[in-house]
Amino acid sequence: MTINNTAYQSSEATVSQNGLSIEQVEAMILKDMDMDIPPTRDLGRFQQRCISTIAHLWNAPSDENYYGTGATGSSEAVMLGGLVMKRRWQLKNTARPDAPINVVMGSNSHVCITRFADFFDVEARIVPVSQQYTLDAEKIEDYLDENTIGVFLTLGSTYSGHFDPVAKVADILDTYQDKTGYDIPIHVDAAGGGFVAPFTPNNGKFVWDFRLPRVKSINASGHKYGLCPLAIGWVIWQDKSFIPSDLIHESCYLRGIQASFSLSFSKSSTPIVYQYLNFLQKGLNGYRETIQSCLENARVVSEGLESSGYFRCLSDIHRLQSGAKQQLGSRSLCKEEMIPGLPVVVFRLSDRFKREHPSFRLTDISDIMHQQRYSIPYYTIPGWGPEGEDIEVMRIVVREDFTSKTAKEVLAGVCGAVTGALGFHTTDMGSSKS
Ligand SMILES: Cc1ncc(COP(=O)(O)O)c(C=O)c1O
Repeated sequence: MTINNTAYQSSEATVSQNGLSIEQVEAMILKDMDMDIPPTRDLGRFQQRCISTIAHLWNAPSDENYYGTGATGSSEAVMLGGLVMKRRWQLKNTARPDAPINVVMGSNSHVCITRFADFFDVEARIVPVSQQYTLDAEKIEDYLDENTIGVFLTLGSTYSGHFDPVAKVADILDTYQDKTGYDIPIHVDAAGGGFVAPFTPNNGKFVWDFRLPRVKSINASGHKYGLCPLAIGWVIWQDKSFIPSDLIHESCYLRGIQASFSLSFSKSSTPIVYQYLNFLQKGLNGYRETIQSCLENARVVSEGLESSGYFRCLSDIHRLQSGAKQQLGSRSLCKEEMIPGLPVVVFRLSDRFKREHPSFRLTDISDIMHQQRYSIPYYTIPGWGPEGEDIEVMRIVVREDFTSKTAKEVLAGVCGAVTGALGFHTTDMGSSKS
């Protein structure tokens, strides 16, 4: 079996580890909720419980006016977030029905956001990344105008794990509104980070959620760090009044009146049950423990790769934020002072290594690791280099099933793969091995 560290999706292992049938899951939930209604007939309640748990995780205001829904994944959730921003802009600008509307996003955003722009006829304005590999907040103002329906920010980037500077962008948009009168909302695509940031020690200092009034909506994938074994997306608006009422449809031909906001009518209820079961079983402390262990293991791998001299990490979760002080006499860093991000290790060849071995390719390592049962992909990030050039990287996604033992094995495997590939290259090139 190949150990797959390719994707963010939770592995199926959690389901089989639990070894529970859906009936047993339902029985547990029924017992925990002390309900007299069979859950199969009342799944809406589970969805609502998940939404309220998540809304509180994201610091929804205490007036409890939030509105949320489950979706097939973050892609659908993003479409709904974008659609609300579009419709809201149109309702405020009825006098200009043909205005060329636009939406602003970073070049680090997921393809589903450009897809939203494409499907819903909105111009996608793409802000380049800064040297910190996040949307460059200093440049964002150049991309805004009276026709901007909203800004999508990413927490964290699929390609590098970095969290966009949400509070800084919110500040810029506040100043922009004071100057121009244009009130531009933020949707945070927290597909990966929505269940990471709340459980990290730096969540108090790194403000990214509904603590910022300008953040109107947030989405996350339950099947990534929400640890749900089946695909489910969540999207929450901090205030229901932000959603134009004609987008929420009511139907009454099933049982009672059902209001829903989604792109597709039917969706599977099983992921919702599993998501709720996870919340009950793990609790906040369980999530905190899992997420912090993922981050710790990702840091161990990152530091190990960099100290080999072969690699430089693009992901930064193992580094201190600028201005933070390392505690004297301790190698372990003060965790709230670390750069926030997803538990991923994104790395490339170090400049020195590339100079010494110009024909060496990351694909060699990926191939050797694959033979050793580890699937670690490599890919090119277009235009992220200091001169706007493409960067070739490899990515290890550290998930719940990635233990400290796995971290040591992967580290040894990747460094060993370099030595192995160098042997191949030296024979190939007839030069001496360094
Ligand atoms: C930042 C980001 N947004 C959206 C998505 C799409 O998520 P989903 O697969 O849940 O539709 C992903 C998937 O990796 C992602 O990383």
